[in-house]
Amino acid sequence: MLLELKNVVAGYLRGVNVLRGVNLHVKRGELVCLIGPNGAGKSTVLRAISGLLKPSQGEIIFDGDNIAGLRPDLILRRGIAQVPQGHSSFPAMTVHENLLMGAYSVSDRAERRRSLEQVYEMFGMLAERREAKAGNLSGGQQKVLEIGRALMINPRLMLFDEPSLGLAPKMAQMVFQTIKQLQNEAGITVLMVEQNAKSGLAISDRAYVLELGRDRLEGPAQALLNDPKVAQLYLGGTTLDSDEQSDDVPAVAEVEA
Ligand SMILES: Nc1ncnc2c1ncn2[C@@H]1O[C@H](COP(=O)(O)OP(=O)(O)OP(=O)(O)O)[C@@H](O)[C@H]1O
Ligand SMILES: [Mg+2]
Repeated sequence: MLLELKNVVAGYLRGVNVLRGVNLHVKRGELVCLIGPNGAGKSTVLRAISGLLKPSQGEIIFDGDNIAGLRPDLILRRGIAQVPQGHSSFPAMTVHENLLMGAYSVSDRAERRRSLEQVYEMFGMLAERREAKAGNLSGGQQKVLEIGRALMINPRLMLFDEPSLGLAPKMAQMVFQTIKQLQNEAGITVLMVEQNAKSGLAISDRAYVLELGRDRLEGPAQALLNDPKVAQLYLGGTTLDSDEQSDDVPAVAEVEA
């Protein structure tokens, strides 16, 4: 187990809990998707993990240690990188400069160079456009740059908040493929929040549905894709055609309140 949230309670205002007891886990090497309606607390879960918000109760176990409430820079140093919602690259700086910014916390020069080479090797598009200003990249390319930047700290876990938001469908697919590539080629564990539930679930191993600050459903991503309740709420009302469903998909577990 790489990450485990146990009964995490957190909120922004005293006495108002946004997360009301969240339990979830991500195994080493897994790609896990978190879906749920607006305001359910999905982004708040990511903020609690990366240390931007201090939980009032519960534990966040990362690689055996409870990191709940640690400073964000210390959590980053442990190997948890977050790719936030929207665009976070510096538009007036080049691709290369943006990648170097990602490694500001890495003091070892040789290590920085190795990370840079690895990122360019993995993402040829960034190597080709290394001298281009980030602001001149397409939305999808900027997202890939942000992923590259997060990779510069050599993370073990990457957190994504709605990576496809605002992207044209083709660009969104490219970004999803890039995230899958992180898992398959770099062995990185991923926890991703996604509104585009269909595409998000399609690349994921497992998923959770968060509602009103609690995890309501969990299961293999394929099972959630085929679940009528999930389909109605998050996939536009229809399940996949029956010939696309597989018989050996394990059932979705209803989480007890
Ligand atoms: N900085 C903040 N201060 C106070 N309340 C906040 C803050 N950020 C979020 N909230 C509240 O916390 C709740 C959960 O917000 P959160 O952003 O985690 O939801 P979400 O599931 O990510 O929703 P969305 O799908 O819209 O991104 C909402 O009611 C929101 O209004
Ligand atoms: Mg959000």
